[in-house]
Amino acid sequence: MVPGKRDVPIHGYDEDVAFDVDRPLSESALSRAGAEIERAHREKLRLCAALEDAADSLPAHVDRLRCLAIAGELVPLLRSVHRYEEDVVLPAFLAALGRSPDAWASVVRLKTEHVEDECFADELTEVLMAIGQGGRVDNPEATGFMLRGFFETLRRHIAFEREHVLPAILTSRRL
Ligand SMILES: [Fe+2]
Repeated sequence: MVPGKRDVPIHGYDEDVAFDVDRPLSESALSRAGAEIERAHREKLRLCAALEDAADSLPAHVDRLRCLAIAGELVPLLRSVHRYEEDVVLPAFLAALGRSPDAWASVVRLKTEHVEDECFADELTEVLMAIGQGGRVDNPEATGFMLRGFFETLRRHIAFEREHVLPAILTSRRL
């Protein structure tokens, strides 16, 4: 891990372990990828729960300091997790499924969602920052809708990875 080279080393890993999809995967590398994606999911689900709390407490009971904390964490965490997934987990998934067309389609879908989620997270960060700095929530329904749209999308993405990506990696580890 090179300090400062990545946004936040939440999922610190040595860049040298990034998989080359054309090379055989070692059991330890697969094991590590499986453990890391589980960890990444836990981090993202924790964030989803915090966002749901914020949405539920709008406008009168919103914890402004908590909003500031989420605003500071949201984009760096997503970028870090997405980079890990794209450098390590998705290549392992492709290799596990023999680079099938279905596997490629899933990877394209997941990478597209990563980009969309990061863009959405940028917008959300501004909203959370404004709330955290004491701004009035003029339209709590719209703000709540925005927050829910984000974390529900994120949860669906995680569910797909849990149902399809993780089992493929863990199964190939046992082969
Ligand atoms: Fe992902």
